This record gives sequence, structure tokens and C-alpha cells, in this order.
Amino acid sequence: MCKITETEITKVMSSFSCISGLKEDIYTITAEDIKAEIDENTIAVGAVVGTTFTGQMDPIEEINNALLEIKETKGWDIPIHVDGASGGFTLPFLYPELKWDFRLEQVKSINVSGHKYGLVYPGIGWLIFKDKTDLPEELIFNINYLGGIMPNYSLNFSKGSSTIIAQYYNLIRLGMKGYKNIMENMQENAHYLASKLNGTNKFEVINKSIIFPIVTVQLQNSDFTVFHLSEKLRQKGWIVPAYTLPANADDIAVLRMVVKESFSKDMVEMLFTDIMESIEKLEQSEEERIKSKDKNKNATLLY
Ligand SMILES: Cc1ncc(COP(=O)(O)O)c(C=O)c1O
Repeated sequence: MCKITETEITKVMSSFSCISGLKEDIYTITAEDIKAEIDENTIAVGAVVGTTFTGQMDPIEEINNALLEIKETKGWDIPIHVDGASGGFTLPFLYPELKWDFRLEQVKSINVSGHKYGLVYPGIGWLIFKDKTDLPEELIFNINYLGGIMPNYSLNFSKGSSTIIAQYYNLIRLGMKGYKNIMENMQENAHYLASKLNGTNKFEVINKSIIFPIVTVQLQNSDFTVFHLSEKLRQKGWIVPAYTLPANADDIAVLRMVVKESFSKDMVEMLFTDIMESIEKLEQSEEERIKSKDKNKNATLLY
């Protein structure tokens, strides 16, 4: 896109790209970060609902207000792009009154993935502009060789239509009510999983408010790492990714559990049991390692 528009993006601020805002204990950007970073050359601010690494939400309304203040005082009219890859499809059903979208003056474009909480197989998603004028005419190709005028704005051209049909089917089949029920169920299961893990004294939940059906935790009071635990869980058939957070918080390693439609309360119980069993095994092997170290120490003393 930068090539097409011949624009140099000097700084994209968002917790997806993990730029300046990601600090210890605050895993999103803040309106203050935005104020400190932007200048007259800033072409847009990117913010995320459903951050990739921690499943949190950038404070879009506060960022919007900060940009409105800047518009008024300095005359810089800086738009917001909201990356709603995950959250864009859950917030309207779970928290319809929460403003993160086109109801905010500076939000001009939003992307959402259908293959996440739209509940369709990969790959479908949308980039939506608030107003036709927000999309420069020169980026749209008008094609006439397929019979009739077809405006096209995309990075690639030919694409199978199966995902579009599947998404269309889901929208009609589930409707607002169906999606709402599914989202609420996922959210309940995510809260349940978070509270169970929280109660063990072994984990700290990073995204404490669980706005999205995602649970991200770090280990506490343990001699092993999330990577060991993830590996143990893989042996039991669970894929729970372990990774370090990006710059400014890269000394924190977490496990992330994305709760989908098919992840029932029973499965929360099963996963929880397997997590606790894995922890027990890891603790035992750690104890054994220490014991055998002590034994060897004694052995060297004896001989
Ligand atoms: C915040 C965020 N934005 C964008 C993407 C990419 O979206 P897509 O899979 O639709 O390309 C992801 C992750 O997969 C994401 O978590």
C-alpha cells in the first residue's frame, strides 16, 4: 500500500505492531502515547480491538478524544484505523454500547476477519471505510472485461467465492440473535477458564477484564516455563501457544487460549485438568532433578 500511494509510513502505532505503547503491566497503547508520538506528518493512527498478543483492547475512544483535541488546537486531522480482526466481530454482539467504531469521529476505516469470530473457515475478511471519500479513487480499478463495470479494490484479484458464500450463509442462518448467543457462550467459557486458572495461584491472567473470548496468562510461583507447559500440553493433544511478548515487555512469556464456538464448558474442564496434571508432572520432574543433583553432590563428597 505504501508503494502504491508513495507514502512513507514513519510510525504506525498499535499494540499489534507492538510499538511504543507496550510497557510492563500496560499491554496496550494509551492516548498519552499517541499524543507524544504524533506530529504534522502522521497520516494515521492504528489501534486494535483484540490485540494479538494479549487479547486486549486499545482505548479507542480515549485516542479519538485526544485526536479531536489535537485537531482543534493544532489543525492536524489524523484518522484512526481500527484493526478489529478478532474484536470487530465480537464487540457488536457482546458490548453494543461500547464505542470503538464509526460512531467515533476520527475512526475512518476498520478491518475485520470473517474467519475468526465470523465463524467461517479461512480466508475471508473486510476492510470497511466510513465514507466513500476516505478511499482514494485512484486505488480503485474499474474492470469492464467481465461484462459490466466492476469496481475492484484489493491487493490480489481472482479469489474463490466459497468463503463469501459460507459467511453469507452464517450471517443469514445465525442472524444477530444467533451470533449473540454464541458470543455470550464463548465469553462465559473464557471467563470460567480464566477464573479457574486464576484460582490455582499458578497463573496470573494478563487480560484481566476478558473483553474478548481470549485468555492470556503468565506463570507465577513455578520453576518451569510456559514453554515447558505448552510442550506437556501438546503431548496431551492441546495446542496452547507459548510466546514472549514483543518489545518493551519481551521478558514476559505467556500462554494464550482462544476460546472458540466449539470450545465447550466440558472442554474447559478437560483442559484445566490436563493443565494441572502437566504442572504436577513438571513440578515432580523439577524436584527429581534437584534431588538427583543433591544426591550427586553427596556422592562427590563421599568419594
Ligand atoms: C489484531 C490482528 N490483526 C490482523 C490479523 C490478521 O488477520 P487475517 O487473518 O484476517 O489476515 C490478526 C491475526 O491473525 C490479528 O490478531
